[in-house]
Amino acid sequence: MKAIYILALCVTLVMAKPADEIVKELPEMGKFDRFDMYSGYLEIPNKQRKLHYVFAESQNDPATDPLVIWFNGGPGCSSMLGFIQEHGPYSMPDGDPNFYENPNSWNKEANMLYIESPAGVGYSYFWDRETDSFDDLTSSEDNYAALEAFYEKFPEYLDHDLFISGESYAGIYVPYLAWQVIQNGLKYNLKGIIVGNGVTNYTHDDGAFEGMSFWHNLYDLGIYDQIKANHCSFINIEGFEDGKENKEECDKLQMKFYDLVSNINIYDVYRECFYDEGVDRLGTAKINGELKTYKRGMTAQEYTPFLFKNKKDSLNIIPPCVYGSGPTDFLNRQDVRDALNVETDQPWELCVGEDRLEYEGFDKASYWIYPILKENKIRIMHFSGNADGAVPTQGTRAWINSLGWPKTHEYAPFYIEDKQVGGYVESREGLTFAIIIGIGHMAAQWSPVATKHAVYQFIKDLPITDASPITAEF
Ligand SMILES: *[C@@H]1O[C@H](CO)[C@@H](O)[C@H](O)[C@H]1NC(C)=O
Repeated sequence: MKAIYILALCVTLVMAKPADEIVKELPEMGKFDRFDMYSGYLEIPNKQRKLHYVFAESQNDPATDPLVIWFNGGPGCSSMLGFIQEHGPYSMPDGDPNFYENPNSWNKEANMLYIESPAGVGYSYFWDRETDSFDDLTSSEDNYAALEAFYEKFPEYLDHDLFISGESYAGIYVPYLAWQVIQNGLKYNLKGIIVGNGVTNYTHDDGAFEGMSFWHNLYDLGIYDQIKANHCSFINIEGFEDGKENKEECDKLQMKFYDLVSNINIYDVYRECFYDEGVDRLGTAKINGELKTYKRGMTAQEYTPFLFKNKKDSLNIIPPCVYGSGPTDFLNRQDVRDALNVETDQPWELCVGEDRLEYEGFDKASYWIYPILKENKIRIMHFSGNADGAVPTQGTRAWINSLGWPKTHEYAPFYIEDKQVGGYVESREGLTFAIIIGIGHMAAQWSPVATKHAVYQFIKDLPITDASPITAEF
């Protein structure tokens, strides 16, 4: 009897992975047979909340490959975007609601954990509205609790190298969670953080769109000169704003600017702007027997609310542009929700509004955390698609410079496929900065080879550039 009990205990210990959360296949997407995939919930103790996760084990060697967490931003946007469009094993391209196997999936050599955060976002839910509002600190407490819950479910990952990654507003979530890991005694094997086009310091990130737009020729020298002459503060170019602003003229110039860029995709100034959502903003689906309505896409304000923090007058000027209908329709299908073990009846939306998420972002953003990460030897990577207008490279470069950390490698190109330049990389003590050229906010999706190369080299602690540029032959 006792022997059987011990045997059973051993079996449970060995098979600690939650068998009931395994996903063998997703309709339309395909099978998960070359690696194990899980979808379920991470409970936040003492809170009426659960965070949904998807865990795609490595296609290489799950037993030794690192654990990489991914967050999308918003606040309010779902990390399922990362999973189904940006770097999951199958991806849905923009404007095409079908899935294709992704040769550049980040789970090729990493165990990828996608967490939808905070509660209220995507399939993550709460059951007590009273207590459910967040800020940058409380959301990081929940993310830390979710990480602990993950290790409880998957204890075999406790000794793996851990990296925390994300994009956009996850420029807050990622360093904050790393800071929580430090605050809680560095119990886990946290090696580094990876942030793509991430919000970090509003002094530099705000107004960078107006600045980068000039260099991308979205307005002319005449307007540029007037902005300068009027000392306008809406643009983030050093020397323009010095307190001598001519507000009336600047407001006019700002409107002129918005007129010129109003049909530009702010997330990638060279990319198609998807308007199809405009026709049918709302979709309906029968979820657990009840007809539900959901937003099929989102406006720029829903997608990147931080852009509108200090700019109420520009509301609704920037079009949505992001392809939202395909992913949203897919994730509201009953068969998909069932396969993903979704527990809630709430419809899935790419980015939820205030009805589902009350969130306060702090003005101090996450810049203050960087010296703490460095002190604790947590390696830092920022990658930045340089055609992004939402969190432009220009702002990121400026705050990285202002940290004053000594350079360890000069700015240099790195090469991908047939010796094309994929981007540029610069290293400083404790921080690697990779610019992905010719691509915007979703660099991992739109320039998958270059981005994956940079991210993987960083994870492996190998140089991103082999510093042997092509010798031109004449
Ligand atoms: C933003 O960066 C500047 C340095 O350029 C720094 O002085 C400032 O404290 C930062 N802001 C915040 C809120 O951390």
